[in-house]
Amino acid sequence: MLNFDSSGLYGDGLLSPEERPSGDDDEILNAARTLQGRFDEGEVGFVHTPDTEIDPIVAWAEERRKEQFTDQLVIGIGGSSLGARAVLHSAMPKHRRGLDTYFAENLDPESVDRLFNFLDPETTLVVVITKSGTTVETMSQFAIARRWLIDAVGEQRANRQIVAVTDPESGSLRKLVDEHGWFDFSIPPNVGGRFSVLTPVGLVPLALAGYPVRALVDGAKRARDRHSDVDAIASSWGVVAAEHLALAERGFDQLVMMSYADRLTGLVDWFRQLWAESLGKATNRRGETVHTGTTPIKAVGVIDQHSQVQLYREGPNDKHITFLEVDQFDRERTIPQSPSMPAALSHLEGQRLSRVFGAELEGTRAALQQAGRPTSTWRFDAINPSTIGAFLYSWQMITALAGELLGINTFDQPGVELGKNIAHGLLGHPDHRQLAQQMLDATEAHTSSEAIQFLGEPDPAVG
Ligand code: PA5
Repeated sequence: MLNFDSSGLYGDGLLSPEERPSGDDDEILNAARTLQGRFDEGEVGFVHTPDTEIDPIVAWAEERRKEQFTDQLVIGIGGSSLGARAVLHSAMPKHRRGLDTYFAENLDPESVDRLFNFLDPETTLVVVITKSGTTVETMSQFAIARRWLIDAVGEQRANRQIVAVTDPESGSLRKLVDEHGWFDFSIPPNVGGRFSVLTPVGLVPLALAGYPVRALVDGAKRARDRHSDVDAIASSWGVVAAEHLALAERGFDQLVMMSYADRLTGLVDWFRQLWAESLGKATNRRGETVHTGTTPIKAVGVIDQHSQVQLYREGPNDKHITFLEVDQFDRERTIPQSPSMPAALSHLEGQRLSRVFGAELEGTRAALQQAGRPTSTWRFDAINPSTIGAFLYSWQMITALAGELLGINTFDQPGVELGKNIAHGLLGHPDHRQLAQQMLDATEAHTSSEAIQFLGEPDPAVG
């Protein structure tokens, strides 16, 4: 069971009950119709990802797990890694009985070097995931990984230790697959990175890790099929999207997702990218300047009660705090009677930790509500592959519908390109060298005159 309770969004200074969006509202119905049209025309394909053929992926992964491999190194970034990472992070040990999984995402040379020193090339399967095949971070680390494998086991064996997940036809990685005969899986062309967790992008590493991918996909499918026609889409995810946007219009333009379960914190990272990259847009589909988007913020209960909640409750009233709450945890501990417990805390003795955790969540939610802060709650009866699948699918729908309500293109990310091109130019790409120089000149003039020195050269005597 997974449900969304938005009652904390209504009240004085928040949304009024009369404003409660309904699936009959024209705007919401139109958004649902437009999105359905994109599905029907094949322009947007994530709606079909819960139908991904699981058997070949699972059978292939089982074969690999019977070979010499103990570990997999998953190389990818953004939508090509966050989904699998989030799902694996939510898994209990019984759901991770396959290869140990390591993600190579960031380019920090210290982390990359540590990873390649730590892993054994004899027993590591390298899974490279990139739809475009041109992502600097991914292809640089893949080049290092391939050299590392070849140096250790030779080219022939290395070719049996590489798995590529990429576009079925285009891109440089596809060409390399054809040339070297690596294992390969395709990403449907009409499914963008951040909507691709239920394609081989997420399912291949998850199946290799021994995660029950069938149950994950089934959870997503059940959520999809429960609200499958336009009216049902409008009155479920459409209403949730509209509530989020109505709050943003009122100035609650920061969306804090606060997980009261460590196993769900990866989902918050996944959600942050989905929401930010999909809805943060300068122009709408008509070409008008709009600068849409609300800022997604990650928070972890109870840790951030001791770090962020002071701000959320007493700082600017611009945040909608959505809680991830779990009814039933898979493990439990009880606080024992103990002479070390201060008398003022003796009421804790004999309490289950889940009860204390739950009370802290209830206390924080109530305190925020009392201060007129909008709150909502995603309630999981338990953390399992089905509820995770339903959550992933639901947020993809809410995000896509929010994009339609805003009239923007949810599925592109033009704002990421400029930074990438400047980096290419700095690294010597002839097409972008001039751009990089221009940008550098502009920013250097600015920073060198304004930088404040806090620490000079080290004193050689101190080291
Ligand atoms: O959601 C997206 O489209 C992006 O976050 C991409 O997934 C990310 O930039 C990686 O791209 P690629 O899969 O082409 O390497």
